[in-house]
Formats: sequence, structure tokens, C-alpha cells
Amino acid sequence: MIYLDYVSTTPLNQEVNHMYQSLLNDYFANADSLYSLGLKTSALMEKSRELTAQLLHVLPEEIIFTSGASESNSAAIKGCAFQYQNRGKHIITTAVEHSSVYQSCIQLRDVFGFEVDFISVDASGNLDLKQLEEAIRPDTILITMMYVNNEVGMVFPIEKVYQMIQKINPKIKLHVDMVQALGKMPIDLTHVDLASFSAHKIYGLKGSGVLYKKTSTSLVPLINGGQQEHQLRGGTSNTATHTMFAKTLRLALENLEQKYQYVTSLNHYIREQLTQIPDIVINTPSEHVSPYILNFSCVGYKPEVILHALEMYECYVSTKSTCSSHKSDISRTLQAMGIREDIAKSAIRISFSHHTTQDELDEFLFYLKKTLKTIKKQR
Ligand SMILES: Cc1ncc(COP(=O)(O)O)c(C=O)c1O
Repeated sequence: MIYLDYVSTTPLNQEVNHMYQSLLNDYFANADSLYSLGLKTSALMEKSRELTAQLLHVLPEEIIFTSGASESNSAAIKGCAFQYQNRGKHIITTAVEHSSVYQSCIQLRDVFGFEVDFISVDASGNLDLKQLEEAIRPDTILITMMYVNNEVGMVFPIEKVYQMIQKINPKIKLHVDMVQALGKMPIDLTHVDLASFSAHKIYGLKGSGVLYKKTSTSLVPLINGGQQEHQLRGGTSNTATHTMFAKTLRLALENLEQKYQYVTSLNHYIREQLTQIPDIVINTPSEHVSPYILNFSCVGYKPEVILHALEMYECYVSTKSTCSSHKSDISRTLQAMGIREDIAKSAIRISFSHHTTQDELDEFLFYLKKTLKTIKKQR
């Protein structure tokens, strides 16, 4: 099997898997129970919170365990909007966000009467900082954006956005979706108020995530209930899953730089090879991008047909963000970059891991060329 869809999800690390299985059996008690079985379960989960905080250089009370980044994004954006709406009802985001951010903003606009500005990007995927600066208003309460784009791979200048906020209106909260950066590049939470993470993108469990929330930021909880997660997320804690987050993160952060360099070399190799194939256009810009993601188009071909043809050789790629894969419209990210419609329509995303080998890439290239020869172009 040649798996080139690590942005969508990753296989489970076997160490994580084994420990998780034993936790499920041995630590099943409710973490809020007062007897020793519950206290032991709770202690393990709190240890995970401490270690996660340590690895991210923040405080344990700033770590909220969630069911994944979609929940973290929704809780951060809506929770923040509801908390600070007496200061203003204006939110700024970008035109290329993951659907969990985009839909949260749309819901705040259409159901709760907030105003939302979507900042665009240029043809190279660079965020329009001038447009962002002009969009900031006295009633802006939140700026929410991603660090690494999940479809094309561009990296946004979070530090510059933070400085802009400090200069214009320091009360604005900055939320960053760091899902595609975690375990791939260094994370600095000093300048953000809220950040979202997901475990299954870093060889961890599905249904596991973290929301980082600075102590100086408050949120209205979206799930009401008990005292769990500092009263921000009611419901019996998913202790085994939350306990595994720290180990997953620790493993993902090992040899970060080495893995980055290795994946960069793979990325250069495949870029070079793809450029030589007629009808292929690379959509991922060459600068300010993550080496882990490469988006390209086989112009004139239907990407779903290529995806399924490659699948016959056990070669797995994706057409766009997996969360939007059942919709037939063009990717919002490629559209925002102003990519020609026929190119955007035929986009394919491949994504790599430090487990990916050059042999796998060669095999993929072989099958891709074979596929392009055998399937028909769309007129
Ligand atoms: C940038 C980004 N944000 C959020 C998510 C949602 O993550 P989860 O599957 O943990 O809800 C994803 C996953 O596709 C993503 O790539």
C-alpha cells in the first residue's frame, strides 16, 4: 500500500495503541468518582494534561481535552464570540479555513447576527495583511485563522498578525488552528489566546484533541454539564483517550527537525518529477509552505477518476480536504488563490510522512503516469 493522505489522517502509533487498550481495561472508572478507582483514573488524565502542557510550554490549566480539532475550533470560535459579544460582534477569519472554522463563522453570522470578514490570499497563497489590517475595527473581538493550510500547505504569519493586533486593538483574541503544524514544525503559543490540535493527525487516536486557552481568555461553554475540563466541556471524561494525548504528542515531537528535513527532500523530489509530466500543474507555491503537503492538478482530468484508478494499485491520495470530499464544488482555498477554474477542478492533494519512502513515491509516479495514459480527459 502507498498511503499519501497523511493530512487526512495517520495510522495509529502501535505504542499508543497498546497502552490505550490496557487503559480501557484497567482504568474504566469515572474520573469524577470519589473512590480510589476514580481518583487513579483522574490522576492519569491529569498527568497527561501536565505533560501536554509541558510539551507545549504552557500551563496545565490552559489545556482542555476535546474530541478533536473540529470541536476545539467550534468551542474556541463560538465560545469566544458569545463571551465577548458585549464588546462587539465583528470577527475576522480567512477565505481558506477548514470547514470547522468556516462553518462556525458562518453560523455566528447567519444565526447569531455577528459580522464576519474573510481575508483573502494572493496567487502564492500569502495572506493579504493589508486587507487584514484594514478589516480590524473597534468592535472586532476575534481573529481566527489556520497556521498551516490543509489543502495547499501555505503557512500563515501568525507572529505578524499578533503584532498587528497589539498595535491596533490588543483586546482582540487570536485563535489559531494548528492542526497541520503540530508534530511537523515548532509551535509557539506565546502570542495566541486559543489554539486547536488533533491527535489523529499525529499518529494518535481519532476523537481526541486539545484546545489551548490562555488563562486570560474566557469562553462560554458549548457543552453544559458537570465540572469536567474546567466547566468548559460537560460530560463524563473520555479518560483513556485524553490520557493518550500526551504520549502521542511526545512521540510526534521527537526528532522534529530531522523529520522535517527528510520530508522536505521527498517533497523536492516529487515536485521535480511531477513537473515533468505533461498536463500536470503544481498548485502549492514554492515558498512559505509546509513540505508535508503538495497540491497539484492533472488538467483536464476528473480528480475522482484518478483517485479511484490509483486506488486499484492500493495507492491512496485525496482530491481536497477530506471533510468536504462529498461536495462537488471547487476547493475554497484554490478559488481564493485565483487558480483557473479548470485547474482548480482537477486538483489532487498528496501528503507525506517521515514514514514515506522515495520508493513509494516512485511507485506512485509510475501508477499516476499509467493512469493518465489510460483514462480519458474530460472535454
Ligand atoms: C486544518 C484542520 N483543522 C481542523 C481539522 C479537523 O480535525 P478533526 O478531524 O480532529 O476534527 C482538520 C482535519 O481535517 C484540519 O486539517
